[in-house]
Parts: sequence; C-alpha cells; structure tokens
Amino acid sequence: MSTTLRRFGLIGKPLQHSLSPFIHERIMDAAGIKGEYKLYELGEGDLARELPKLLNELDGFNCTIPHKLQVRSFLKGLDSSAQLYGAVNTVYRGVGYNTDGFGFQSSCVPLRGKRVCLIGAGGVARVLAVEAARAGAREIVIRARRPERALELASLLAGLGFSQVKCLDFQARESGDVLLNGTPVGMWPDVGGLPVPAEELAGAAAVFDTIYNPTATRLVLKAKSKGLWARGGLKMLFAQAVAAQRIWHPELDFGLLQGELARIEQELAWEVLKRSPLKLVLSGFMGAGKTHVGGLLAQRLGIPFVDLDEAVTRRAQLSIAEIFSQLGEEGFRQLERECLEAELSSSGPLVLAAGGGAVVQGGAAQLIHDRGGLIIYLDVSLETALARCASGEGRPLLQKGREAAAALYAQRRPLYKAAADLWVDGNEQAAVVVDAILAAFELEV
Ligand code: S3P
Repeated sequence: MSTTLRRFGLIGKPLQHSLSPFIHERIMDAAGIKGEYKLYELGEGDLARELPKLLNELDGFNCTIPHKLQVRSFLKGLDSSAQLYGAVNTVYRGVGYNTDGFGFQSSCVPLRGKRVCLIGAGGVARVLAVEAARAGAREIVIRARRPERALELASLLAGLGFSQVKCLDFQARESGDVLLNGTPVGMWPDVGGLPVPAEELAGAAAVFDTIYNPTATRLVLKAKSKGLWARGGLKMLFAQAVAAQRIWHPELDFGLLQGELARIEQELAWEVLKRSPLKLVLSGFMGAGKTHVGGLLAQRLGIPFVDLDEAVTRRAQLSIAEIFSQLGEEGFRQLERECLEAELSSSGPLVLAAGGGAVVQGGAAQLIHDRGGLIIYLDVSLETALARCASGEGRPLLQKGREAAAALYAQRRPLYKAAADLWVDGNEQAAVVVDAILAAFELEV
C-alpha cells in the first residue's frame, strides 16, 4: 500500500445521493491504495472559483450534472473518449476523459444490426446513442420530450458518420428491437413510473435502463418477466467507476482484482436497496404462497413484513370469515383497501403480502404504483393453489366448491398478469421463489 494519501472526489450538484464515495473507497481499499473520495457540491456559478483549486489539490476527480460539458474549458486537453461524446466525467492531470461509454459497453447490450429505440436525449442518452452507433446498430430512433435535444443528438451522430436516425416525439408509439431508457422515469422514489407503456415491449428483444436505483426498474422487471434480455444501470455505474480508477492508477493491474471487484459490485446492489427502500407487494391467487414467500423475502432483505389479511383482521377485530359473514365481501374489500393504503403510506421498506383479491380490485394496482410500490405476481396452477388451501380455513371464497374456485381463478389470472411488474413461478418451493425475486433485482443468491 502506498503511504501518501491520494485524494479524489466528485464535483456536481446535487450530490447527496451519490454512491461514488461508497464505490471508489471500496475499490481503492481492495487495490491497496491509500485514498479518499469526497463530494464537492458545486453549482454552475462555482466552477470558475473552485475548479483551479481542485485541479491543483486533487489527484483526480469525476464530474457529473451540471458540469460534464462546462468543465472542458478549464482543462489542458481532452482524451479521445471525452471528444467522442463531447462530455467529461473523469479528470486526471488536467486532462478530461469519459468512462461512461465504457460503463455502457460493460453491460453488453445486444446492439449490432438492431433497430434501437432510445428514450430521452439528455446527457446519458448521448452516450447510449453514440455507443449504439459505434456498435453497429441498424437504425436509431430517438424519442425525446424536447425535440431540439433529439435533433442535436442526431447531428452528433451524423458527425460520427451515422445517419440512420429518426427523431420522434416522446409519445410516438414507434419501438425497436432494443429499447434503451435514458430518462429518469422509474427512478426511486417514483418507482411506479414507466418510460413507455408496457405494450411496447411486445416487439422488443432487449431492454436496457440506465437507472440503477432501484437495481431493476419497473421497465426492467416487466421485460424480464416477458423473457426479454434486460439489464439495469448498476453495472454501467460500477464499470465507469472502475475505469476512472484505472485512469488514476495506471501503474496498477486491475485485472488481478476481478474477484474483489465482483464482490464490491454485489455489495453495491445491497447498498442501493438500503439507501432507497422499496415496497414490494406480493400478489397471486389464494394458495400462491404470498405469506410464506413474503416472510422469507423480508427476512432475506432484512426489512419488515406485513400480511394484509392480518392487518385487516387487526383493524376489524374480526376474523376474515367473520368479516365476510357480517359485512359481506364489499365490507371486506373496503377494509382491505384502507389497510393497503395505510401500509403503502408508511415510511421505510416493506414486503407486503396482499390478499388474493387485493391487487385485482379496480384502481389498486394504480394506487400501489403511485405510492412507489412494485407488484410481484406469484403465478400458481389451480391444482397447486387448491392443494395448498385444502383445509379451506379462513378463505370464505373457497367454500363454494371447486367449480366456483376455478371460475374465480380463470377470471383473475389475466388481471394478476396485467398488474404484475415481476412474474415468478409460485409453484416452486418458497426458497426458490425468493431466490428468483432476489435475482431479478440483481441481488446475489
Ligand atoms: C381473498 C384471499 C384471501 C383473503 C380473503 C379474500 C381473495 O387471502 O384476503 O379470503 O379474494 O382471493 P389469501 O390469498 O392470502 O388467502
């Protein structure tokens, strides 16, 4: 380990949620570098005053919004990576580099020969567009809220010799083989957001979302559930940081650290979850295993678990059977809705096992998404469900015989599917189902 402290940092604004100190300090630790990585919250007006000092004092730094373009005028020169995107995210010895493209390449999104649909035309979208063109995309469709930004990006691509570009309105329903999200829609705490309607995934084969918080957005979960290749932005975030470290420490062989780096990337996924707690709502037919899986999932995640039926019985001071017989199904649904709202309004993370009918009631899925929840559907066969509920105890809706249960199952299954963000096979053992959910969020199992 070197003995003098090396100083690095990040300039930008706002920075309070940045994961960069976490990532860089761990990488340096693993590499035996004695170093620190600090946040320097600077607004646009602060650059002229502060940057010359930082260029002097720091061994290297990263820059983020709003400085990626502006910082160029304070530097001695630009590496070809920074010239390519016209933006800088890493500075070393007065020279600007860009490692975001490398980060994106590490995500291995299939782009060659593909029709790529890019949502957004801001800073990160720029990197995605240039990389898609360089990787040999057949065509790039840019859908942006601000059409002038899309046109600007198209001319950047034209400058690189890529002219198969179509600029469309954000709302245009034109999709591609590969969908890239470069907007913040779906980012925590608004995890219920979807940058494009789910139906647009029908024609796609792959989805990449630059958002890493949550580690799998609603868009990524939906794509995974449909069997598409899908990845969130965590790998990109981590790989751009490793690439910056390589620039700052050219004397070190980072290839020797692969195992350590993989471990830190995993820790990062858990760190994201810790800092940006999620509300995960388990849905599915009676007997799908929501309570059992939910309890186990909460335990693995180290977060609280609530069973909605239990919350309802607590509130009513009656059993489910008593509520149905005294208040009817309508009375039960009202209580259930009140309890769902109350649980979703609580602060902090939660795994919520919803009763079999809760999520398919009108407006319930919308409510869950509006309140920042994600819906995980445990799909189970009717046979398994009925076998698991053989006693019929506490389930008034299963008292009317197999035919009625089968009709309810057939009526609900499409509703469960439509509301689901993540689909998992609930016929499996609870531990296997939990592993599948954790894997979907890139959490190692
Ligand atoms: C119901 C399912 C039950 C309970 C109530 C109604 C339903 O919960 O909420 O009996 O409408 O499917 P479980 O799915 O946990 O059994």
